[in-house]
Amino acid sequence: MRLSQYFLPLLKETPADATIASHKYMLRAGMMKQNSAGIYSWLPLGFKVLKKIEQIVREEQNKAGAIEMLMPTIQSADLWRETGRYDAYGPEMLRITDRHDRDMLYGPTNEDMITDIFRSSVRSYKDLPKNLYHIQWKFRDEVRPRFGVMRGREFLMKDAYSFDLSAEAARISYNKMFITYLNTYARMGLKAVAMKADTGPIGGDLSHEFIILAETGESEVFCHADLVNMPAPGNIDFDSDLQPLVDERISLYAATDEMHDAEAFSKLPKDKQLSARGIEVGHIFYFGEKYSAPMNAKVMTSEGKEVIVHMGSYGVGVSRLVGGIIEASHDENGIIWPKSVAPFGAGIINLKVGDDEADRVSEELYSKLSAAGIDPLYDDKPDRGGVKFSRMDLIGLPYAITVGPRGLKEGVVEIKNRATGDRLSLTPDAAADFIISEFAA
Ligand SMILES: Nc1ncnc2c1ncn2[C@@H]1O[C@H](COP(=O)(O)OP(=O)(O)O)[C@@H](O)[C@H]1O
Ligand SMILES: [Mg+2]
Repeated sequence: MRLSQYFLPLLKETPADATIASHKYMLRAGMMKQNSAGIYSWLPLGFKVLKKIEQIVREEQNKAGAIEMLMPTIQSADLWRETGRYDAYGPEMLRITDRHDRDMLYGPTNEDMITDIFRSSVRSYKDLPKNLYHIQWKFRDEVRPRFGVMRGREFLMKDAYSFDLSAEAARISYNKMFITYLNTYARMGLKAVAMKADTGPIGGDLSHEFIILAETGESEVFCHADLVNMPAPGNIDFDSDLQPLVDERISLYAATDEMHDAEAFSKLPKDKQLSARGIEVGHIFYFGEKYSAPMNAKVMTSEGKEVIVHMGSYGVGVSRLVGGIIEASHDENGIIWPKSVAPFGAGIINLKVGDDEADRVSEELYSKLSAAGIDPLYDDKPDRGGVKFSRMDLIGLPYAITVGPRGLKEGVVEIKNRATGDRLSLTPDAAADFIISEFAA
């Protein structure tokens, strides 16, 4: 993309209501624009990142055997009446009446709808287990939408729903998602810790929130320090027994403030007691027959007996992750994107637009990097060097190649690594090869 042709409306001033880094930088870097409280347009730069995050989430769900579909944002209140949730949900639900006076709602979640889809076609134990998911916009009329995409009213969520024959089988489905989540966040450069979460009236131990540590996080969390740097399991066979991998993690203390047990925590070695703030980037939950019983979602067992299916749901805050990644990775100059989610792989800064040699070398780099799939952003605007450098730092691409007359006299361009600040002077060809090899790694 040539910057002169792109749509990148940067802000010079930070809007007064933006108090945390991700909110400030997303507005300043032209990633999004607020349309009303907690409701945003995703501008081209932000939209690219959102799509990359979504794609990582999708690939990891698919690896674990979950199947993608798409349910509507607008739902009929009837299904929610069947489960009793239409009255129970409270003012967070946006209720709508259509022209025929039918009660509708903008979905805050989809358990009721997916259970209806399931019960209308699945009859036999032979079709289980199943895990169906979609990546769809949700609306929750939060009392205090704040921190930009962190707590929006409209937000993008991946929500998966598992169906199993028994509580034991449901645990296997749960474990698959538990492991998948760790892999998903690791691919985005995040260190997420699974923390024990409230199971409410369902009881049991199958509810975890996935938390990334950040000073600006909304939740207070407590965990064993070793969990933070424990590597994600990576490529594993999802049909194998995942319980040992799960146990390795849940045997160490980790809880959000609602579930915190100060006494148990105090028994950890002092240097392992980590109390911090965190951002909830995902939440997995086993809820048994909570929706399947009132909605009569049953299957026939091999013995010819009808049983109510056991369900779980698994959410990832896709749009919140855009902010979460920025909270985890930025400095005073702007965002520092991990390669896997960066909106463009590299920037090319032409310091002297109009100079034959600078233009020629920049164009060559642009074609070479484009052909290699790096998706470069070429700053071909006639601005001063200082403006170009700070703009590139703000939007946070992993690498920037500076092409200027001074370097070109020596036959070199300069690569800057945004994360480390390291600089390298290389010939234009070597510079392109270097960046291509960094992305291949
Ligand atoms: N208002 C919101 N804005 C952005 N993301 C949200 C919001 N509410 C929830 N999420 C994301 O969706 C995931 C699943 O939501 P869920 O656990 O059902 O919500 P909650 O924790 O509010 O009960 C959360 O872990 C979070 O990452
Ligand atoms: Mg939650």
